[in-house]
Amino acid sequence: MVQALPVLVGTVAAMAACAWAVPTATTPSPRATPTVSSHGMRIPIRINAQAKHPRNKRMRPSELADWLENESSKLRVKYTHPHDRRASSHTKRQQVGLGDSGADSYYFAPIGIGTPLKTMDVVLDTGSSDFWLADAACSTARNCPSSMVKYDASKSSTYHNSGTQFQVQYGSGAVKGTLATDAVSLADYNISSVSFGQASQLAKNTIRPPASGIMGMGFDTLSTTGTMPLWQILTERHLLHDYLFSFQLTTNFGRVESSDEINAGGVFTLGVLDSQQYSGDVTWLPLAEGYGPNGLGYWAIDIDQMAVNGQRIRMGNMGVAAIDTGTTLIGGPQPLVEQIHSIIPGARPLSQSSQYFTFPCKQKFEVQFVFGGRAFTLSNEDLNLGPASTFGSSCVSAIFISPSQSNRMPAWIVGDSFLKTVFAAFGSSPPSVGFASLPSGGAQSLSLTSVPMPSGRESSVGGNPFGGGGGGGGGPLGGGSPAMTEPNTDKSWQTASVDVPNKIQPLNPAGGTFGNAAPRAHLPMQRGVGLGVALVAMTVALLL
Ligand SMILES: *[C@@H]1O[C@H](CO)[C@@H](O)[C@H](O)[C@H]1NC(C)=O
Ligand SMILES: *[C@@H]1O[C@H](CO)[C@@H](O)[C@H](O)[C@H]1NC(C)=O
Repeated sequence: MVQALPVLVGTVAAMAACAWAVPTATTPSPRATPTVSSHGMRIPIRINAQAKHPRNKRMRPSELADWLENESSKLRVKYTHPHDRRASSHTKRQQVGLGDSGADSYYFAPIGIGTPLKTMDVVLDTGSSDFWLADAACSTARNCPSSMVKYDASKSSTYHNSGTQFQVQYGSGAVKGTLATDAVSLADYNISSVSFGQASQLAKNTIRPPASGIMGMGFDTLSTTGTMPLWQILTERHLLHDYLFSFQLTTNFGRVESSDEINAGGVFTLGVLDSQQYSGDVTWLPLAEGYGPNGLGYWAIDIDQMAVNGQRIRMGNMGVAAIDTGTTLIGGPQPLVEQIHSIIPGARPLSQSSQYFTFPCKQKFEVQFVFGGRAFTLSNEDLNLGPASTFGSSCVSAIFISPSQSNRMPAWIVGDSFLKTVFAAFGSSPPSVGFASLPSGGAQSLSLTSVPMPSGRESSVGGNPFGGGGGGGGGPLGGGSPAMTEPNTDKSWQTASVDVPNKIQPLNPAGGTFGNAAPRAHLPMQRGVGLGVALVAMTVALLL
């Protein structure tokens, strides 16, 4: 459930109206190409009910403890600062990267790849920037189960192998293969040349069917393979109507049908801010200093303030939060996570040296995250991961001590436990994250059968309406990670032909109601520093 502090939001909206240049639907942002009047496309996000996840099924306490340990170790690897990453001695002349998905690819979405297009499901991960797919050469012995849908280069007429090795390091091992390019379709945007890793070996527990890979949705500077993320290609090439993509993740706790392996899990939308998917206004926050396009490349923003049952947490300088769809829980710095649980009646550490906390299962409380002067509230139910022991009455909290304690990395990693309670948009002009309330009735779902899937017929890519690159605005910043020993030089995305969808698919609710069509909110083009300071000051004042 999401709530705003009404007084605060009203004031902020009024201030924002005069201080922010807010483009309207008919006024393209400076980076838009006026000749392109495209909209965006929604695709369903799905949930794997077989995935191990406490929201899917109650786990035995030992299994839960194991799962919690795994979640923590995934973050440790994913949020290692580039300077702390070391290329191992076996990876001479190879590119080494770090990434994460989760053994249990809980949320994923369909993409099309190759000519003719073949459908594969990938985890859309805003906390990383590499894109790889399990390759036909990946055997069961190399951790690709036989039931996994694999990429088969021999079946695609648009495949090109770069001959460059890639390697992405995970907690449980490495994903390895070669970098290739092929035609890729995401949310009906068809691009004739996108770089991806053709993985002939997976790390244990990286992904499991029906997912076949990971598509990183962070910025190129975070890409350890030196490749340009697909969403950013569309941005650099000025092919989006609105310079953003958004997620609406559903809460499937108790609603996952175990008979059906794949369940509706929400909506991913590319290229348009769809007012049907939220109610009220979108609150936009510029990326925190050092994280934007030339920075580390995470979608990291500042938390103004946090409170538990109205009682403020002393944030210190530990307010930067990476907004990560590929992370399940919410990781934070030890002193703050301890403060939060010290306010929740009856909460205590799961065990003596644990990074996790429990609270009485029946205890009601609220944790507020204030972003951009607006409070977003998580209830005890939102944060409840299930009972800590078979007969006990304490439940595990979704807020835990992040294993990544480098002050060069975001202090918080805000994953699905928060994101499923909001509408979340990731905008690039300027780089910012926006949150809004879900429509009354909660997140919507696209009916899985109503969505056109790449049909396997010949892709219509061809002709190049934007030939010559049109570049502008940066370009790939391949050398971002010191772990890279060999920069990727593939620039074919600059001249790739692109088909742009020209209208948004009608949204078919799979049960549940629609919110009112609220007026469209848009990306603020700039935000005065003074305003930022004023907002923080005001927030503090109002929370006192
Ligand atoms: C935790 O990770 C280990 C090793 O990667 C794996 O064998 C185990 O199944 C995982 N446990 C859970 C509950 O996900
Ligand atoms: C993308 O390709 C698919 C499959 O060929 C096709 O159905 C779809 O219309 C294409 N999208 C655009 C925007 O042209």
